[in-house]
Amino acid sequence: MERWLGKIALVTGASSGIGKATVESLVKYGMKVVACARNLQKLEESSRTWNEKGPGEVLPLRCDVTSEKEVIDMFCKIKEKYGVLHVCINNAGLSHPAPLLSGTLAEWNSMISTNILGLCLCTREAVKLMEEGGVDDGHVIHLNSMSGHRVPSNYSNGHFYSATKHAVTALGHGLRNELLAKDSHIRVSCISPGLVETEFSYRMYHKTPEQAKKTYSSIQCLTSEDIAEAVIYALSAPARVNVCDIHVKPVEQKT
Ligand SMILES: NC(=O)c1ccc[n+]([C@@H]2O[C@H](COP(=O)([O-])OP(=O)(O)OC[C@H]3O[C@@H](n4cnc5c(N)ncnc54)[C@H](OP(=O)(O)O)[C@@H]3O)[C@@H](O)[C@H]2O)c1
Repeated sequence: MERWLGKIALVTGASSGIGKATVESLVKYGMKVVACARNLQKLEESSRTWNEKGPGEVLPLRCDVTSEKEVIDMFCKIKEKYGVLHVCINNAGLSHPAPLLSGTLAEWNSMISTNILGLCLCTREAVKLMEEGGVDDGHVIHLNSMSGHRVPSNYSNGHFYSATKHAVTALGHGLRNELLAKDSHIRVSCISPGLVETEFSYRMYHKTPEQAKKTYSSIQCLTSEDIAEAVIYALSAPARVNVCDIHVKPVEQKT
């Protein structure tokens, strides 16, 4: 991780779960991290602790990744403060229990605009800022999911979410193709976790929290820190190595 010391990273969805653990880890490795999410208060609270501990630093910014205006405003602020970006971690994501035969357009739109379009907007702006700053060895990391690679037969609440994560798989490949076509050395990694205990299921089942609790107590889940370690592994590889996809699954997870 030495080569990232003092370099600039963006982590979306940094107010909770995997994003929060990833920021904490990057700061320990001395990176300057822009942490974004919609809940600025939560970000600011965590940032106070992160900035006290160092050795890196955190700039908390409110940004709803589904809004092109907010994403562009955020990148203007990053450019103003740091002039450049080296690492973009597209982590913001969510799910709604919205089966294909009974889900609502609002739920499906929310998943598309966060998991797919928000990721694409941040990626486009991140690569632009890397290139403007002359960064040819940058790194884009997409938080994908095992749901981006298979569709279990017993989980209709996850079908639409799974479609958005399959899109993330395609977007990772596509981005790598576009960067290669312009002889860029910017790397693209996808990280595909199985079940991680975070706020994710509590948000998804906010009307029936007992369901989220049941999900997380059904097996020994991964922790956010386990996934932050996978991020660090991808970033730590030598510049000639592109870690394309990391699958991390709880030992007890059957599907
Ligand atoms: N937990 C799992 O089992 C699991 C498994 C596989 C993959 N993943 C993926 O891992 C990523 C992180 O999930 P997590 O488990 O850490 O969930 P989480 O604890 O619910 O965190 C999600 C984060 O995304 C942010 N977010 C949601 N919508 C946003 C938006 N429109 N703009 C900006 N930020 C937004 C949330 O913050 P605000 O509400 O403050 O905006 C929060 O910080 C997601 O992409 C998820 O699909 C999770």
